[in-house]
Amino acid sequence: MQKLEMLYEGKAKRVYKTDVDQEYIVDYKDDATALNGLKKGTITDKGIMNNTISSILFEMLEGKGIKTHFIKKLSDREMLVKKVTIVPLEVLVRNYAAGSLSKRYGIPEGTKMDNTILEFCYKNDELGDPFINEYHIRAMKLAEEKDIRTIENAALRINEILIAFMKEIGIDLVDFKLEFGRTPEGEIILADEISPDTCRLWDAETHEKLDKDRFRRDMGKVEEGYMEVVRRICEK
Ligand code: TMP
Repeated sequence: MQKLEMLYEGKAKRVYKTDVDQEYIVDYKDDATALNGLKKGTITDKGIMNNTISSILFEMLEGKGIKTHFIKKLSDREMLVKKVTIVPLEVLVRNYAAGSLSKRYGIPEGTKMDNTILEFCYKNDELGDPFINEYHIRAMKLAEEKDIRTIENAALRINEILIAFMKEIGIDLVDFKLEFGRTPEGEIILADEISPDTCRLWDAETHEKLDKDRFRRDMGKVEEGYMEVVRRICEK
């Protein structure tokens, strides 16, 4: 497997072409951003920790019948993935109120939601990833009705699987963000990453935050939070 030119550099990852047409390499960086890029920093070894966590979670989800872009972990910071075109939506799944949901509706952080909440944001940095609903998504031709249903069903199933997985390692899955991609054959599959950058993970006993909120909110012990998730997942 040969790593060829870089195709794309995002805030937390770089994507490279390979000598295999349908396969890309994702390289996880230590860079961290928040507040839509306004806050910048580095979390030591975040790339290694997120690649480890994402690889384990993608493999676990594949084992439970979820189709993902994950092929295999290549090195500390690299994973081999299937080539997809990202659907320009951030799919937010929430089990407890936190973050922007708490702000928007005045619901105290940590309130358990009676039902899972699914939200969409339009993935567009210039616009600050604004919230969007299904009517906008169809009107703007970001995804068809049947694709929205596929994404919705996959997101809810992924939530059930991740809640159970995290429960076993003493973590409450507060909320998370998913991205989906389209294969050249037109199939919608899970893409991007699942890591403490993209999830809110709270210790089930102490409610200590083990995720990127430690960076966003200048809480300190950011690396320690990520490391604790790695430790619990790897010991499972
Ligand atoms: P929010 O409360 O800021 O809307 O975030 C909800 C969850 O989604 C939280 O776990 C962080 C994650 N998320 C991302 O990973 N990237 C994003 O751009 C956004 C808006 C949220």
